Amino acid sequence: MRKKIVAGNWKMNNDLAETEMFLVELKKQVFPEDVVVMIAPPFTNLNHTFRSLREHPVALAAQNMHQSNEGAFTGEISAKMLKSVGASTVILGHSERRAYFNEDSAILAEKVNTALENEMTIIFCIGEELDDRKKGNYFELIKTQLSEGLFHIADEAWENIIIAYEPVWAIGTGETASPEQAQEMHKFIREAIAENYSKAIADEVSILYGGSVKPDNASEIFGQDDVDGGLIGGASLKVESFMKIVNSF
Ligand code: G3H
Repeated sequence: MRKKIVAGNWKMNNDLAETEMFLVELKKQVFPEDVVVMIAPPFTNLNHTFRSLREHPVALAAQNMHQSNEGAFTGEISAKMLKSVGASTVILGHSERRAYFNEDSAILAEKVNTALENEMTIIFCIGEELDDRKKGNYFELIKTQLSEGLFHIADEAWENIIIAYEPVWAIGTGETASPEQAQEMHKFIREAIAENYSKAIADEVSILYGGSVKPDNASEIFGQDDVDGGLIGGASLKVESFMKIVNSF
């Protein structure tokens, strides 16, 4: 049975005071037992969030990490550092990292290896730009992102992988992929995993959809056969909208 997951990616939002306000509200909520809920605050708030949520079902994720374990990389954060402040899940390959910070598949493959070596869970993001969607080469592009960034891992590593399909044209735009478009791509991703590994592995991997998921469209998207939850940006910043999405299965 695949895990249902809702992960909130705060991106570069919420300072410490805003984070604390969110956490106070979050801790008043009742969480469904069959949904894994995570939040990914900025690095500066991970430790505070970890301490605050110690006895709480919501898990902590980081938004990025460096591919090296340590060294002279000013401004960077390692897997070990993340784990030491309670983040044992990391988002890798988000389209904003790919587009604004030149993270290509070679770097991402290294990050994947480092995260796995450090026994972290990875939310591996893939997604096509609007241009690729218009040109009709989006299946090919997704296959390339998977094969170059992820398909080198060993069979047993898949238990630490969550995939997030995020069409770039739907991120922060208010334009969501239709439930049918999401299902079509999620099915394609699952089949690609089955072809390269096995059906048993593919059937166990949670594939999240991301891109303008809101309380009013979440249940239709989550209702698709191959959609196992969401990676939520804007709507994860307020407890009320985040909880509505968490309760949308
Ligand atoms: O990581 C989250 C995605 O980029 C989606 O962001 O929900 O604001 O469109 P959004």
